Amino acid sequence: MTNNVKTIRVKASGEYDVIIGRGLIESVGELVKEVCSATKIALVTDDTVDALYSKAVESSLLSSGYKVVKFVFPHGEESKNLITYGNILNFLAENELTRTDALVALGGGVVGDMAGFAAATYLRGIKYIQIPTTLLAQIDSSVGGKTAIDLPYGKNLVGAFCQPIRVICDINALSTLPQDVLGDGMGETAKYALLDKKVFDLLKTDYDMLDLVYLCVDYKRQVVEADEFEGGFRKLLNLGHTPAHGIERLSKYTVPHGKAVAMGLEIILNASLKHGLINANEFEEMKSAVKKCAPENVCPFDIKDICQASLTDKKRSGDNISLIMVHGVGDCRPVKIKISDMWEYLR
Ligand code: NAD
Ligand code: GLY
Repeated sequence: MTNNVKTIRVKASGEYDVIIGRGLIESVGELVKEVCSATKIALVTDDTVDALYSKAVESSLLSSGYKVVKFVFPHGEESKNLITYGNILNFLAENELTRTDALVALGGGVVGDMAGFAAATYLRGIKYIQIPTTLLAQIDSSVGGKTAIDLPYGKNLVGAFCQPIRVICDINALSTLPQDVLGDGMGETAKYALLDKKVFDLLKTDYDMLDLVYLCVDYKRQVVEADEFEGGFRKLLNLGHTPAHGIERLSKYTVPHGKAVAMGLEIILNASLKHGLINANEFEEMKSAVKKCAPENVCPFDIKDICQASLTDKKRSGDNISLIMVHGVGDCRPVKIKISDMWEYLR
């Protein structure tokens, strides 16, 4: 573990630290021990991450005196379903995990969302720790307690708000990410750049990834602390997500989430310019920030089809949909529009 470790305290319904540093995976046992008195830990991961990091995590947990049982499922969004979720629950029961035991989610957002949901519901809830290993999971999905699985009807349709007891972000884990997965995380970073001036400014520099993860998590902390259960303010984190949702659906989920978000941000920026919320200079500056994060991102779909495909979005309520619009860097606000006006509004 290096000395350059940053900690962010999240004060939500559960209070916990997000620890960000390099080489933390080797010290997972100690970091878990500080917050978890479990006897047994269920380590849940996907096959790719298993081959890379399970051994180090398992041996660190064993050295700290935990009994460890491991559940591995095939990587990818296709696994984030009722079947894998059921298999995790059965695995926890077969291995007799009790309410005082805990689960460790090691992997990207798919592992974190699904293992988190299993932890939220097994025995009506056991404690869990997130060890996010993708950029997207480090800056977004591991923090804030949203857990979910997909249904054939759409993504994240079943889930629960359940905060982890600790999040351990090892920046070194990002070094094994394939370029496209890293690029996907950068797409989600573009969202933070428009939401938070600090991220926007950092991206203009020769930044350290640790600082980028730190600033994004710290922004998310503020939002989650203000509105944990997404009554209003947390909806800001959905910036770009409504068109992104349509793009993901149209592509049959071959366009990954972060890339779809970057495409969605461009659609929102265009509409923000069209409606006079930002001027041409602001538009160019923000567009180039998004492009810097997602350079080769070209939306392959027509805006009319995107609007139609985004109608299953959870941000819809009745005949209205809430879109987050950009009024400036660090100044994004919701606008409620009629579903029937969405295409006219965004095109
Ligand atoms: P992912 O979990 O599928 O990971 C992408 C790929 O990278 C997988 O093949 C995985 O095996 C591999 N991988 C993970 N870590 C690696 C590493 N260190 N080295 C090499 N390979 C590695 O995808 P993701 O982009 O991390 O997460 C996407 C999911 O997150 C979606 O299901 C989305 O709905 C969810 N999400 C949730 C929230 C939330 O608030 N809960 C927010 C945003 C996204
Ligand atoms: N990723 C959106 C949220 O956590 O609210």
